[in-house]
Amino acid sequence: MKVLLTFSLIWTTVNCARILGIFHMPSYSHQVVFQPIWRELSLRGHQVTVLTAHPLKDPSLVNLTEIDVSAINVPIPKRMNFMQYIVKEQPIHVKVKKTLELNYAISEALLSDKRFIDIYNNSNSKFDLVLVQPYIAPTLYAVATKLEAPFVGVSSFGGFIGAYYAMGNPHPPSLYSDIFLPYHGRMTFSERFRSTLYYLWSRYYWTFHALPKCDQIAKKYLGQDLPYIGDIEKNMSLLLLSNPILYERRPNVPTVIDLEMLHVKPVKPLPTDLKQFLDNAKEGVIYFSLGSNVLSAGLSENLKKVLMEAFSELPYKILWKFEDDKLPGKPKNVEIRKWLPQQDVLAHSNVKVFLTQSGLQSIEEAISRGVPMVGMPFISDQAWNIRRLVEEGAAVGLEHSTLTKEELKSALLEVINNPTYKENVLRLQKVWSDQPMPALERAVWWIEYVIRHKGTRHLRSPTADVTWFEYLLVDVILAILSAITLVLFILYKMIKFTFRKSTVEQKKAKKGKQS
Ligand SMILES: *[C@@H]1O[C@H](CO)[C@@H](O)[C@H](O)[C@H]1NC(C)=O
Ligand SMILES: *[C@@H]1O[C@H](CO)[C@@H](O)[C@H](O)[C@H]1NC(C)=O
Ligand SMILES: *[C@@H]1O[C@H](CO)[C@@H](O)[C@H](O)[C@H]1NC(C)=O
Repeated sequence: MKVLLTFSLIWTTVNCARILGIFHMPSYSHQVVFQPIWRELSLRGHQVTVLTAHPLKDPSLVNLTEIDVSAINVPIPKRMNFMQYIVKEQPIHVKVKKTLELNYAISEALLSDKRFIDIYNNSNSKFDLVLVQPYIAPTLYAVATKLEAPFVGVSSFGGFIGAYYAMGNPHPPSLYSDIFLPYHGRMTFSERFRSTLYYLWSRYYWTFHALPKCDQIAKKYLGQDLPYIGDIEKNMSLLLLSNPILYERRPNVPTVIDLEMLHVKPVKPLPTDLKQFLDNAKEGVIYFSLGSNVLSAGLSENLKKVLMEAFSELPYKILWKFEDDKLPGKPKNVEIRKWLPQQDVLAHSNVKVFLTQSGLQSIEEAISRGVPMVGMPFISDQAWNIRRLVEEGAAVGLEHSTLTKEELKSALLEVINNPTYKENVLRLQKVWSDQPMPALERAVWWIEYVIRHKGTRHLRSPTADVTWFEYLLVDVILAILSAITLVLFILYKMIKFTFRKSTVEQKKAKKGKQS
């Protein structure tokens, strides 16, 4: 009883916290992961203010204030032609530099916005917690420092090297590469070699280019008296990561927390016409969508032709998320829609396979609904994702630039007709949905934990504060090597001395005999 009372007392103290969420990247597939978190926090009675390009606009959420920044950040990636720099064919340093540049531009644009200035440059602004998006650059974390509030990073995928480093999470390049590099686990020699070179370049580039640039932007808007951004980054209370299903297991420090299927909702009934289409497709349905970043309507004419020819020769219905009204030459068995309730479509029993760009959120949805995949990666981490799914036996991977009709047909037929793909997806689903509490509840519990304890200094790993040469024991190894060298040197001198002495004596003795 006493325990219960103390417990409820602790809970009442966080009944009504003020939370600011800064979700600066405009991509929908990132924002869908954060939406349930800010919704849930507001429903629990917290006063939540978020900056986002994808507001929920739900009037029943009375404790939620959404500042729609879509007019500010959505045009920026387009203006920078961002997509063309993160296609999987680009070298990794180009992807990283462009993603950083995008971050700088978006951070500046948001920090210049009147509505945001009214929040961060206002002595009446009081927040108990700031939620940030740890998407490569830490610039906006400085807003939390300015507001004197602890902050929590919420990612829509895994962590970048910089974030792991700041949290003190071990990141040996022998075992882990980076989100944009398609290596992991037992790497071959050349993979470890590249992973190591990338790691060294990445640490160098962060320390001497990225962090100083972020620091400069943060200080320009938030004041010159701000601590260095690299130190602010190390003050992150928690790093919440999504989608551990595909990532290599790690020895995470206590402040790095994996959450799976955060955005997956219970199955809802389908709109009537869609339900009819799927119900009637007794022969089976291939669901095809390239997500929200890669648009089907923008594919090359050649690839569209290959897709349509393959579809027309398959004995199934195809449901295709296609963003235009018309698709010239559309085969009879193909149905196009501009937008589809993907989680609910995937839950329909007639859906046999999901032809996907293999974005993380799509993969989590397919796994949660038990649908095997054929993956066709285009950008960012997608090539890595599909490689992992193929290893798990849950998908077949394709290369879109050289794709032929026969390859596509045989990949789809293989996944539909060979039951091992479905079995492996169901295995992943079972293993990953078996958790002490659902991911959203865990996320909210940890966020409120930070509010209750005003940070997580007591959970901080010492790895966050030691230098690299202390961590790698470079000084200790040098000391041991010096001691060994000294002992060897003394031994050498002693041997040399006794040897010389004895030869001198021998010579003396020889001389004595002669005379
Ligand atoms: C709003 O917050 C108050 C407490 O701050 C809480 O009692 C109420 O249930 C919340 N309402 C909704 C709809 O979230
Ligand atoms: C913040 O407020 C101070 C004075 O109240 C003002 O001088 C400064 O320009 C403001 N900063 C921004 C970014 O508007
Ligand atoms: C880190 O957080 C603590 C407590 O919230 C604060 O006192 C300190 O100034 C912060 N340091 C930096 C560099 O942000």
